[in-house]
Amino acid sequence: MPLRIHKNKIVFEIFLVASISLMCFTPLFFYNRTTTTISLIHIEDAKHHVPIPALVSNNKCLIPDFSQMYFQQFMYSIPKKYTPCNRKNYLTFVTKSENTATLHVKQQNGFYPEVSCCYSNISRNFDRVNPDDTIKISKCRKFTKNVTLATDFVLVKCDTGSVQYKQVHAAITAKKTTKNSDIWPPPFSVLILGIDKISRLSFIRNFPKTRHYLTSNNKWVSLNGYAKVSDDTFTNILALLSGCKTMECDLIWSEFEKYNYTTAFGEDDVWSKTFTFHKQLTDYYFRPYFIANEKYPTVELNKMFPCPDRETPFERLLDLAKDFSVTFKNHPSFALFWIKTATVGTFPKLDYSIRALFRHLNRKGVFANTFVFFLSDQGRREGKNEFTNVGWLEEKLPFVYVLVPKKFQEIYSEEFRFLKLKQNELTTPFDLYMTLQDIMVLTQVNLDPKPSQSCPTCESLFMDVTEKSCLDSEIENRSCPCDGFVLTNLDDLVVRNASLFIVNKVNEFVDQRMCRSYELRKVLSSSASWSSGYKKLLISVQTYPYSVFEAFVTYVDKVFELDGEIKRLDFAIVRCVSDSFLKKYCVCKGK
Ligand SMILES: *[C@@H]1O[C@H](CO)[C@@H](O)[C@H](O)[C@H]1NC(C)=O
Ligand SMILES: *[C@@H]1O[C@H](CO)[C@@H](O)[C@H](O)[C@H]1NC(C)=O
Ligand SMILES: *[C@@H]1O[C@H](CO)[C@@H](O)[C@H](O)[C@H]1NC(C)=O
Ligand SMILES: *[C@@H]1O[C@H](CO)[C@@H](O)[C@H](O)[C@H]1NC(C)=O
Ligand SMILES: *[C@@H]1O[C@H](CO)[C@@H](O)[C@H](O)[C@H]1NC(C)=O
Repeated sequence: MPLRIHKNKIVFEIFLVASISLMCFTPLFFYNRTTTTISLIHIEDAKHHVPIPALVSNNKCLIPDFSQMYFQQFMYSIPKKYTPCNRKNYLTFVTKSENTATLHVKQQNGFYPEVSCCYSNISRNFDRVNPDDTIKISKCRKFTKNVTLATDFVLVKCDTGSVQYKQVHAAITAKKTTKNSDIWPPPFSVLILGIDKISRLSFIRNFPKTRHYLTSNNKWVSLNGYAKVSDDTFTNILALLSGCKTMECDLIWSEFEKYNYTTAFGEDDVWSKTFTFHKQLTDYYFRPYFIANEKYPTVELNKMFPCPDRETPFERLLDLAKDFSVTFKNHPSFALFWIKTATVGTFPKLDYSIRALFRHLNRKGVFANTFVFFLSDQGRREGKNEFTNVGWLEEKLPFVYVLVPKKFQEIYSEEFRFLKLKQNELTTPFDLYMTLQDIMVLTQVNLDPKPSQSCPTCESLFMDVTEKSCLDSEIENRSCPCDGFVLTNLDDLVVRNASLFIVNKVNEFVDQRMCRSYELRKVLSSSASWSSGYKKLLISVQTYPYSVFEAFVTYVDKVFELDGEIKRLDFAIVRCVSDSFLKKYCVCKGK
């Protein structure tokens, strides 16, 4: 017996070594085959044309495609196996049929035959000064077996003698469909599903299941050149929903409301408050539900819950998105669901849950009549790309997938063709704002589309293609991905000299009395921009003592010059210097 285990172990080890080597060498292979690094010494030869794989490539904008490099991160993102909770396994659960939702107590629960349950209605507390932060819980009313629900959210409590079970449930009932549309056939619905801060590359690395679903059926259009317009999440969402960078414009919900669309807004994080509404702007508003979840966390009964861990807020949000979309599949609706609580640790769960949602909506026929915008607001530096030029670009390019109903594709084939051409053009949230209006116009809603106030020349994605620069698209200079920074050899002498130049510059800023001065340890990443004729470099360096700096440097006639500020990328707490500018560059002397 021990011998057999031993043998298996050896086989296993061989297998392990083989798989690890495969994983280690695969990236090199792909990287060399698909990404060219350039040599600055010979740049005169390559001046205007460097053949690199690109997401966008025209006279005004070049965005390199680093997606093959994701293989380098492969070992970080082997998806964990994940088993979802089945809500029907709870002691209480909700079922729906047509316009009614029913709350049930599980009868043959086996363990607690004598449960007595009560439920309370949960609603927004309009009496308070801050209606958006408080909820009202009605008196707990007893029920046996089941009860028909009249409000969207309820809190259930059940006494078993020893433990008090607690659970918050939501059920969307179509009571508000009394809204009647004069428009026939009914206009298309819009569902926007967002995840906070996921770049296009991060999506490729972390959401393999969903990505496979989206790309394999050839129905979803990926906007590969979609760029953020600001560094701030709120501004990017606002740009998409109002065409403005500040709160001075109407949110597009009100436009859809006018045409009797049923509207919804939900985000899973009660603390972030992307939009706080004193007056509820949408027909369905899920903040009270998430406040209740926070306030009354689920208490399950022993042995009764086959859920491996508690349901996450984003699973609850996706359940709402599902419930809402299916409930209103035959009525015009406009909904925004935004996920903020996902973390690298929960990405496998989110990946699984989103694919499950899309499959469900497809099966239920929701997609026949609904435009889906599945997207993020911006990227973030993460994992191995945190300190590289790839990470710098990644920050600027969130992922976007668009689903266009088949019916629309057939009637508006020309418009759909333009959308597909935009896959490899520079696009922004302002363009999406125009597109949302265009969806209403094209489906016979009698609307005069308003130009985006912050970007008057931005156009619907259904319009013909015109080449755009960052300036044309109102993308802030520091967020501009269009300069075409192409990776260079790290051991180039120009790069080496430029790196030393950066470290020397930092040493000039450093407060010599309190802080240590730096030496160059390593060039971490380097690239040169196509738009400057490869005269502008983006370089990140690691120093001794440990810090990571990133800067733009121009290189003209063998003279280096700083372009903008030197950024410190590593996180450090500096106590010995108080000046906020100098603080950034300091590693304190002594201990
Ligand atoms: C919840 O609200 C509905 C409708 O207003 C009402 O009929 C029902 O009795 C309420 N339930 C409780 C427990 O207060
Ligand atoms: C609720 O319980 C009653 C009485 O047991 C039963 O007749 C009814 O079918 C149940 N309703 C639903 C929706 O299951
Ligand atoms: C919206 O619904 C109202 C009330 O049913 C109706 O009077 C109005 O004409 C509808 N508007 C549109 C644009 O369908
Ligand atoms: C942004 O860049 C453009 C073109 O390089 C320049 O004309 C403009 O002044 C810059 N804007 C800011 C705010 O720096
Ligand atoms: C790099 O710096 C060294 C030393 O200052 C100098 O001799 C060399 O010419 C520089 N090379 C380039 C390509 O700038």
